[in-house]
Amino acid sequence: MRTQVAIIGGGPSGLLLSQLLHVRGINSVVVERKTKDYVLGRIRAGVLEQGLVALMEEAGCANRMHAEGFIHNGALISYGDEMFRIDFSEHTGTPVMVYGQTEVTRDLYAAREAAGGRIEFSVEDVVIHGADSDAPQVTYTVDGEARRIECDFVAGCDGFHGVSRKTIPDDVRREYEKVYPFGWLGVLSETPPVNHELIYANSARGFALCSMRNENLSRYYIQCSLDDCVEDWTDDAFWAELKRRIPKDQADKLITGPSIEKSIAPLRSFVTEPMRWGRLCLCGDAAHIVPPTGAKGLNTAASDVHYLYNALRDFYENGSEVGIDGYSATALARVWKAERFSWWFSSVMHRYPGQSDFDLKMQIAELEFLRSNKAAQTAMAENYVGLPY
Ligand code: APR
Ligand code: PHB
Repeated sequence: MRTQVAIIGGGPSGLLLSQLLHVRGINSVVVERKTKDYVLGRIRAGVLEQGLVALMEEAGCANRMHAEGFIHNGALISYGDEMFRIDFSEHTGTPVMVYGQTEVTRDLYAAREAAGGRIEFSVEDVVIHGADSDAPQVTYTVDGEARRIECDFVAGCDGFHGVSRKTIPDDVRREYEKVYPFGWLGVLSETPPVNHELIYANSARGFALCSMRNENLSRYYIQCSLDDCVEDWTDDAFWAELKRRIPKDQADKLITGPSIEKSIAPLRSFVTEPMRWGRLCLCGDAAHIVPPTGAKGLNTAASDVHYLYNALRDFYENGSEVGIDGYSATALARVWKAERFSWWFSSVMHRYPGQSDFDLKMQIAELEFLRSNKAAQTAMAENYVGLPY
């Protein structure tokens, strides 16, 4: 088959790019390794920057988000029993949208299906051919049947474990990585959130986060050892540990309940350079990973999509390759700032093995400075709500 843009990966990056291109009359085909139900079964973060909100609006997929999402003008940061608020709107004039990534993905699937978009599920053996030519191809199989897509561009939106990044030759590609010495144990529960805003907690026992999906669906995390298994944690043990890590007044009002999802995620910072090789452009987790502390995973995927979408528009509407040629440098400039914020916030909020008493004093000093300094709060808020595209 022939299309203009072959998109590998039917997660948020691939679907958002496909829908935006469709709105501009640019054809694409999405090939996804899993089934739609599997993709929608993934539990991911839920804080959207205004840039992503605007892209969803441009893609014509924002109605349910605006109806069911929650505008948050700030978030809380605690250390021990101390707690203070960062007012994003006061410092930046911008709030964030709390709306599950699963719902973003669901809305994008619905839009692609309504538009008759071509999405191939359960594909196998995806191979990108001729990425360094002006006539790349993507081959794959579905139920053992071999298929081929001839295209102008390939968008590698296939996540950290996909094939796109590795299509860029080893002698061209450079990777940067930091693996964190802990994980996050996450629980989803059909209980009212403990607070109407998120609470990021630094405690002597480790990090904790209180988040939500709606008035009766809460998302909580506690930092855990990489040696932990989900089976090690009963619901009661999780709730007891969470209560130890958040301020007492919050713990006293925490409503617990059975977990409907419980999982452990490792934390990593990772960046691939370049994000473009010939007619192959990487987007989202295929090119970079952040620790979830700053909620930058989906939001940085969105800025990649914004840059690539506009570069492709420029190519097809104006015959210009300026955007494509500048894609990698432009995307990476913002990616590295998101990596820095996510690394910094993780360094301030978690307990690291081998931290000295001085190191712990530096964490508290950082939080006290953030609590008391307007410029520090503005810088934090600007990063959290999303730096400009
Ligand atoms: N062929 C086809 N599809 C593939 C392949 C492959 N070889 N390998 C992976 N995929 C699919 C995965 O099944 C997944 O659905 O690509 C998709 C990639 O989606 P994500 O991993 O969600 O990455 P992305 O779309 O960039 O979204 C980034 O999702 O993982 C979170 O924290 C991350 O919030 C961030 C966001
Ligand atoms: C979530 O709601 O899952 C979430 C929110 C904020 C984060 C990470 C995860 O920083």
